[in-house]
Amino acid sequence: MLRRLHPVQPASFAFTPANLEWAKGQISKYPEGRQASAIIPLLWRAQEQEGWLTRPAIEYVADMLGMAYIRALEVATFYFMFQLAPVGSVAHVQICGTTSCMICGAEELIAVCKELIAPAPHTLSKDGKFSWEEVECMGACANAPMAQIGKDYYEDLTPAKLRDLIARFSKGEVPVPGPQNGRYAAEPLSGLTSLKDFESGKKQYNASAQLAVDIGDTVKRIDGTEVPILTPWLGKPAKSAAKTAAKVAVTAAAAAVAVAATDAAVKAVRKTTKTSEAKAESEAPVKKPRAPRAKKDTE
Ligand code: FES
Repeated sequence: MLRRLHPVQPASFAFTPANLEWAKGQISKYPEGRQASAIIPLLWRAQEQEGWLTRPAIEYVADMLGMAYIRALEVATFYFMFQLAPVGSVAHVQICGTTSCMICGAEELIAVCKELIAPAPHTLSKDGKFSWEEVECMGACANAPMAQIGKDYYEDLTPAKLRDLIARFSKGEVPVPGPQNGRYAAEPLSGLTSLKDFESGKKQYNASAQLAVDIGDTVKRIDGTEVPILTPWLGKPAKSAAKTAAKVAVTAAAAAVAVAATDAAVKAVRKTTKTSEAKAESEAPVKKPRAPRAKKDTE
């Protein structure tokens, strides 16, 4: 699929102070001259800030990383996780249209999106709250058909269930992600047939749904307030360099000791071998010289 930048673009882009601090932390993870390696996380954060990836945002990130614009554009247009057109203010609905989901009813789900959101993908709904697209396999085939809404998977969907989800999102609710047909995860619909011990002590929802409920970030955009910025190496170059030098010195000393020990061991083995050989020689029975053969009469 050809992925182009949206024809209508904002005039400019700049990270918020929180996102800028986070972005600098990401860049500092890479050695001098390799800052371009931070492009995907930075583009992703720019997308989280705006909802979609604008041309000014791509160029802003390229400038931060000292990259040619075309290199940043290559990354942004290659990966489908980057949205190159405005998305719904509440949620972008991604319907899986690959084999398992298609067999199990993805076309009906797409029909619901066309009816409730917009006739064409990557188009905003009339109220601006939703957008949708068809995507390739999301790896939840055992729970087909499914959709990713915001950051979470809504699985075992039916057209009626998807309608209900969109209505609830529209009202400001955040429905619990995961299977929508009563399944806990991807076990048989009739219940577990093996590993039944797992039934005891399990949480209310499966691990990913439980995490989504606990964090509450299903359709919330990342804004830099979620986790502390973990860059313990920043501001401590001298200490780390000293630590590294000390480590190298200790390693070198240990290696020298090991070499000396090996030399000594080799010398000892050689000495022992020589002594044993000499001893063996001295203790060996002395062979008597053979008596010359008597000449035969015929000769
Ligand atoms: S085919 Fe839809 S998740 Fe794999």
